[in-house]
Amino acid sequence: MRQVMVAGNWKMNGSSESVKELIAGIKQGMDSAPDTEIVVCPPAVYIPRVSGAVDGTSIKVGSQNICDEDKGAFTGEISGDMLKDVGCEYAIIGHSERRALYGESDELVARRFAAARRNGIKPVFCIGETLEEREAGVTNDVCARQIDAVIALEGVEALADGVIAYEPVWAIGTGKVATPEQAQEAHAFIRGKIAALNADVAEGLRILYGGSMNPGNAKDLIGQADIDGGLIGGASLKAEDFLAICQAGS
Ligand code: 13P
Repeated sequence: MRQVMVAGNWKMNGSSESVKELIAGIKQGMDSAPDTEIVVCPPAVYIPRVSGAVDGTSIKVGSQNICDEDKGAFTGEISGDMLKDVGCEYAIIGHSERRALYGESDELVARRFAAARRNGIKPVFCIGETLEEREAGVTNDVCARQIDAVIALEGVEALADGVIAYEPVWAIGTGKVATPEQAQEAHAFIRGKIAALNADVAEGLRILYGGSMNPGNAKDLIGQADIDGGLIGGASLKAEDFLAICQAGS
C-alpha cells in the first residue's frame, strides 16, 4: 500500500513573516490528514527556519533543487550535503520551470537525481509534456525520454525510494487541470514503463500529480488508481487550501 504524499512547492514566494505563518497554520491543522505524508519545499533561504518549526512533527522538508556536484566552485548552487544538514529529506528535481527557464537538460536532471541519492535525499523527480507535445500526441514519449535519462545513469532500482511527479506543463499555474482520466492515463503509462523493467519498484513507486491541483479537484485526482498524491504550487501557499488537499488524500 503506497502512502499518499502531498508536497507543497512554494517556488519563489514568501518572506520570513509569511513563512512563519504558513507553517504554523499547517501544523495547527495537520491532524486532520493523519494518513498523508506532508512535505513542504520552501525557497532555500527559509529551509533552516522551516526545519526548526516542523521539528518534532511528521511534516517533512524538501528543497526545490540540488546541485549535481558535491563540493567546490559552483557559485550559486547548494549541495546535497548542505541540504541534508539543514533538515531536507526530499529534493524536487527537474521541475519544468528549471528545465524551461534555466535550461536544465535531461542529463543534468539525471545527475541532480544521482546527487540527491548519494547524499541520502529522496528525489521528487518531475516530468511532463508541454501543450505542443500533448497536441502532437507525444506525451508518453516525452515522459519516457525524461525517465530514461535517470534510468540510464542510475538504473531502475534508483526509483525504488524516490517519487515521480507527473506535471503536465500546460497545467502548471494555469488553472487548467488535467482531467482525472488524462492524469491517470499518464500515471498508468509511467508505472507500466517502470514495471516492464522491475515490477516491485513500479508497485512501490509513488507517482504524484502536479498542475493546478486545488481543494476542489484533489479528491478526484488522488482517487485514481495510479495517482499517489500531489505536488502543489499555488494552493500550497495558503494553509487552509493545502490542508484541504492533504485531507483529500487521507
Ligand atoms: P500549480 O499548482 O501552481 O499549478 O503548480 C504546480 C507545480 O508546478 C508544482 O511543482
